[in-house]
Amino acid sequence: MKMTLLPLALFPLSVHSQTFEFLHWWTSPGERAALEVLESHLRQNHLSVHPSAVIGGGGDSAMTVLQARALAGNTPSFAQIEGPSIKSWDAIGILHPINHTAQTMKWDEVLYPLAIDINKTDNGYVALPLTLHRLNLLWTNQKLLKQLNLTTPTTWPELFNAMEQAKQAGIAPLAIGEQPWQIAQLFESLVIAAGGVTFYKTALVQLDKKNIDSAEMRLALSQLRHISLLTTPASKQSKWDSATQALAEDKALFQLGGDWILGDLLARNISVPEHISCHPAPQSHQIFLYNMDSFIFMASKTFSQPQAEQLSRVLADKAFQQRFNRVKGSIPVRIDIDLNHFNDCQQQSYHDFQFASANGLAVPSMTDSMAVNPVAQQAINSEIFRFFRNPDISENEVIRRILSISVNH
Ligand code: BGC
Repeated sequence: MKMTLLPLALFPLSVHSQTFEFLHWWTSPGERAALEVLESHLRQNHLSVHPSAVIGGGGDSAMTVLQARALAGNTPSFAQIEGPSIKSWDAIGILHPINHTAQTMKWDEVLYPLAIDINKTDNGYVALPLTLHRLNLLWTNQKLLKQLNLTTPTTWPELFNAMEQAKQAGIAPLAIGEQPWQIAQLFESLVIAAGGVTFYKTALVQLDKKNIDSAEMRLALSQLRHISLLTTPASKQSKWDSATQALAEDKALFQLGGDWILGDLLARNISVPEHISCHPAPQSHQIFLYNMDSFIFMASKTFSQPQAEQLSRVLADKAFQQRFNRVKGSIPVRIDIDLNHFNDCQQQSYHDFQFASANGLAVPSMTDSMAVNPVAQQAINSEIFRFFRNPDISENEVIRRILSISVNH
C-alpha cells in the first residue's frame, strides 16, 4: 500500500499527544491559577505540559536558569520571557519562528503595535505574546483606610502622610516584597512622578547621563528613602505575594506593584475593588507603565519547528488568551478581546491603556525587563535595593553608580 507522507504540522494533534517542558516563574497563588488555565487548555487539545517553575518573581532567576540550560544544550520546549531579550535570544539562532501561527491568527492586524514590536524580528514572529501587565498601581486596603479615616492618596506626599498615620496607629503602612526588582519597581513609579514620561524614558530607558544626574532623580531617591524609613519590619515580606497576603489579611494598608497582585487577590477570593481597591500609583494617573509576558519556542533535538507551530497555534487561541488574562490580572495583547467579564480593575486598566497609547503615555518598565539589557537592569536594580536597605548610602553615591553602569551599557 502506498503511504502518503504528511508534514508533521498536518497531523491531528491527538496523534502526537506529547509532553512539552515549559520554563516559567509563575509560583504565587494567582499565577498558579493562571497556569492551571494554560495546562487545562493544552490538555483539551491533547497536549500536555511539564512545567518547570523557577522561584523568584520578576523572572531574574528564571532567566539565569534559561541561559545556563541553553549553554548546556538542554533547553525547555518553551519558556516565559519578557521584552528586548526576545530579540537577543533570536539573534543567537535558537528560536523557532512561529509565522504560520501568526498568519493564521492575523497577528499583524489584531495585536497591539507594541506587542508586534516586542515579538517580531527580521525572522518574523519569534515569540507569542500573552499578557499586558500594568505596573504603576497602588493597592489599598479599604477596611484599614476607613478605620484610619483617610481617603485614597493621589500624590506621594499624601501617601506618605497616610503611611505615617498607619504607622502611628500600629498598622503596617506598606506591604513590600524585600526583593531588588520590587524595590526598583517602586522607584520607577517615583521617577515617573518626579519627572514625567519623557524624563523617565531618557533617564531609565535610554540611560541618559544628564537625566540620571538630575534634581528629579534626587527627589525620587529621597522619596524612596522616606518610604524605607516608614516601612516597619512587620510590613517587609520576603516575596511580593507574601506582601499581597498581608494586604489581603488586613495586616497592611497599601501595596505598590503590578496587576499580578490582582491575580493573587482573586485567587484568594478577595473582593476587588470593595475590600482591596486599585488606583494608579500617585502622580501617574494617565501613565501606563507596562511589561508583557511572551513565550519563546526553543529549537532542540526533541522540539521541532512543526511542533512549535502546533503548540503556538493552540496557545494563540483567542478564547484561551481571554481566560488566561482574566485570571492573571492583566489585560489581553489583542485588540479584539471583550473585557466585559473581567474585573473592574482590569477594565479600568484597559481604558487607561487606550488613553496612554494614544497619547504617548504608555512606557516600558526598565526594572521588569522591558527596556534595557538584562545586565544593566540587574545592576541598576541592585544599586537601588542597596540604597533602600542601607540609610548610610547617599543619593549622590547611587547616582554615581548608576552613571557608571550607563557608561558601560
Ligand atoms: C511577570 C508576571 C509575574 C510577575 C511576578 C513579572 O515579571 O511579567 O507574569 O506574575 O513577574 O512574578
